[in-house]
Amino acid sequence: MARVAVVGVGAIGSVIAALLQQAGHEVVLCARRPQDGLVVDTPDGPVAIRATVVTDPAVAPAVDWVLVATKAYDVAGAAKWLKGLCAEGAPVAVLQNGVEHRERFAPYVPMEKILPVMVDCPVEREAADRVRQRGVMHLKVPGGALGREFVGLFAGSPADAAEVPDFLSVVWRKLCYNSQGVLSALLLQPAGVVRGEALGEVALDIIRECAAVARAEGAVLEEGVAEAVLSAQRAAPADGVNSMLADRWAGRPMELDARNGVILRMGRKHGIPTPANSMAMALMEAMVAKSA
Ligand SMILES: NC(=O)c1ccc[n+]([C@@H]2O[C@H](COP(=O)([O-])OP(=O)(O)OC[C@H]3O[C@@H](n4cnc5c(N)ncnc54)[C@H](OP(=O)(O)O)[C@@H]3O)[C@@H](O)[C@H]2O)c1
Repeated sequence: MARVAVVGVGAIGSVIAALLQQAGHEVVLCARRPQDGLVVDTPDGPVAIRATVVTDPAVAPAVDWVLVATKAYDVAGAAKWLKGLCAEGAPVAVLQNGVEHRERFAPYVPMEKILPVMVDCPVEREAADRVRQRGVMHLKVPGGALGREFVGLFAGSPADAAEVPDFLSVVWRKLCYNSQGVLSALLLQPAGVVRGEALGEVALDIIRECAAVARAEGAVLEEGVAEAVLSAQRAAPADGVNSMLADRWAGRPMELDARNGVILRMGRKHGIPTPANSMAMALMEAMVAKSA
């Protein structure tokens, strides 16, 4: 049994807490507010979370592992927990979308202690104390000692946790999927919005740009990845709410830079044009500025 801290007890953090609890670990929840009566509705039924909750980074205890599940835009706040939690050298797993997990935490944690994690699981916060997990939690990590230890944390839980030989390709493929999610957030409509023909074409443009940049970065993606990603998105539940749409509905910041901005930035570096992502970002920034 390990003592594991989860920083950020939202959609993903709550499911992770439930899985760690099922695997028999001692779980410490690091949250901005109390977490009384937190329940995760998993595909196998409800799991009530019984964990130590800490709301002040100044009293965070030293743990064996830290799993960060805040949004990418909340990294500076999440980092405030690390001094106490990592006092005895605990590694930090970053469970976030995008492809820059290590870069985000490099100012706060030694590089060799950072484990990037690709998280794939449809989860929504339905209330402050209720989270709905719609499918299996897939967790993919780079191979190596840290990755192996992380995967071991989930032994005995229903999570699909695994080391992968080509993590770079895995995260870029996930970004291909996430990049088109900006359309749902822009239009304030759930995932089914790209089932229409015209919006499907726009989604394809966004994904193709992401795939071109991914290949320039060294990711190996199959021909036709954009069509495959769009088909998967169209086959997913039409009422699915991606985390960017959830953020916009809730009036929170969005992971626009981590999911689309990065495609522009890396596209510029490689001389790859990214007009569809640029337009989506410009429209979203204008919408947000108008409603501010
Ligand atoms: N949801 C999904 O289906 C899904 C799927 C795959 C990947 N992801 C990725 O997983 C990551 C987490 O997403 P999510 O959907 O779980 O986000 P979320 O529901 O918004 O949860 C983030 C949590 O972090 C907390 N937080 C923020 N700053 C904090 C701080 N300084 N100290 C402690 N807690 C802090 C927030 O607190 P408050 O409750 O006080 O706001 C919130 O509970 C994102 O990168 C997302 O893109 C999400």
